[in-house]
Amino acid sequence: MTAHECLLKMENIVKDFPGIRALDQVNFTLEKGQIHGLLGSNGAGKSTLIKVLAGLYSDYSGRIMFQGQEANIRTPKQATDLGIAVIHQEFSLLPDLTVAENIMLGREPLKKRVGLAFTDWDKLFGDAESFLEELGFDLPAKARIADLGVAQQQLVQIAKALICDAKILVMDEPTARLSSSERADLFAIMHRLRDSGVGIIYISHFLEEVFMIADHITILRDGKVIESKPASELDHPAVVRLMIGREVAETPVEIPVHSGVPILEVWNLTDHERFQDISFTLYKGEILGLAGLVGAGRTELARALFGASQYPLEGQIVIGGKEFVPSSPQEAISRGLALLPEDRKQQGLVLDHSVASNLTLTTLRHLIHGPLIDASRRRELVEKMIKLVEVKCTSSQVSVNTLSGGNQQKVVLGKWLAVQPEILILDQPTAGIDVGTKAEIYKLMEQLVKDGMSLIVISDEPEELARVCQRILIMRKGRIVKELVGRSTSEEVLAGVTAEY
Ligand SMILES: Nc1ncnc2c1ncn2[C@@H]1O[C@H](COP(=O)(O)OP(=O)(O)OP(=O)(O)O)[C@@H](O)[C@H]1O
Ligand SMILES: [Mg+2]
Repeated sequence: MTAHECLLKMENIVKDFPGIRALDQVNFTLEKGQIHGLLGSNGAGKSTLIKVLAGLYSDYSGRIMFQGQEANIRTPKQATDLGIAVIHQEFSLLPDLTVAENIMLGREPLKKRVGLAFTDWDKLFGDAESFLEELGFDLPAKARIADLGVAQQQLVQIAKALICDAKILVMDEPTARLSSSERADLFAIMHRLRDSGVGIIYISHFLEEVFMIADHITILRDGKVIESKPASELDHPAVVRLMIGREVAETPVEIPVHSGVPILEVWNLTDHERFQDISFTLYKGEILGLAGLVGAGRTELARALFGASQYPLEGQIVIGGKEFVPSSPQEAISRGLALLPEDRKQQGLVLDHSVASNLTLTTLRHLIHGPLIDASRRRELVEKMIKLVEVKCTSSQVSVNTLSGGNQQKVVLGKWLAVQPEILILDQPTAGIDVGTKAEIYKLMEQLVKDGMSLIVISDEPEELARVCQRILIMRKGRIVKELVGRSTSEEVLAGVTAEY
């Protein structure tokens, strides 16, 4: 393989959506055996560029050269035939099928019987199993996708993309929900692919990660390429500056001391499946962190408190001095609880409804005036929320599936803030959110607790917990194993999460 052999050249790509130019004369080059980080704020155009490459849009202008030849990619099949494999930001697995079926979709082995072809199930599962073993993925080939956690689902996505012998592999936010060991596995796989000449495009908001893995970095802002350079010529602050066009002040969040008045008390809560014997108190005006490895039971605990657990609960919950039995989310909301779920696509949004209706989904009750919805109050609320969480959209009437991934997440956050809960549980609040907006969200949290709200923050990022929490509980295998009292450093959080108990 010659050095710097050009695999892909996208030239002067322009793609418009109603009211917005998502890509503006974008030039992008990928070499063989290169890991190319594609960076930019929420809505910068990263996913759109990838969708052009994947043949999902036929109405762009510009030229795509693949291995020196003009490739007029306008359909997904043309992209696949060239060896372009994409793991999109939105999952595209079939939830009711097994891991093996999802991986082998479209390439099912057949066997002939009385002149007719049938799926050879034994071979299908056998092939899938040996492929997973080759990748070193610990996944049950016969499990249904719907029964897997998000991290495992992500590995299935990756396996599915890799099985077609890709020349170009694109990963749009692949590690948003992986544990650090799974991430290490993924990086090892990426290195192997790079060494065999595959070109990899890697999109992530975890800049540390991009610097760990990328050879080259391209930065988009408002649909334009702002910079494209070897990673060794850039550093973290430079990238942030290029992404958002200004300096971000890394001022530490000033979290006021909480009131000492208990708002939520949990005693010996157990669901006999995902968590056991959980006891803790949340105080009014406190930001309490929940740290732990993926699978520690934090999400299940949050769902249980919100009345969304599938298992019967034992133990006691007290909110504002009165016992609370969480039997449904409606009930939880009426007692002043709200949950920003980890899996926003599944639980957070009605994708084909407008930004406005998603934002007011949870507050409709309060907006009803006789038989009618109070339209002007609703408009007011929507405008306030869009400003508060800084949703980038051309109007509040566009449907949510036209927003970029990060902006969809902001809508979910706004939706729950509109309820004005007393207790807000945030499960991975900034996953997929760009660095500039993250700082805004931390400031927002600070304001919310100053106004008397109490927050529980579940996060996989030690820096995040260290930055906003007054106190952190560490969970391991469904139990609380440690409490970090007072502000902690991210090193202390990380040490707490990874220690043996
Ligand atoms: N189907 C669509 N219809 C209308 N507008 C769209 C559509 N898809 C994307 N856009 C707009 O194009 C712009 C670029 O979005 P894109 O999804 O490419 O951003 P991104 O860089 O991937 O952001 P994120 O980090 O949030 O995923 C945004 O303003 C978005 O609202
Ligand atoms: Mg995106």
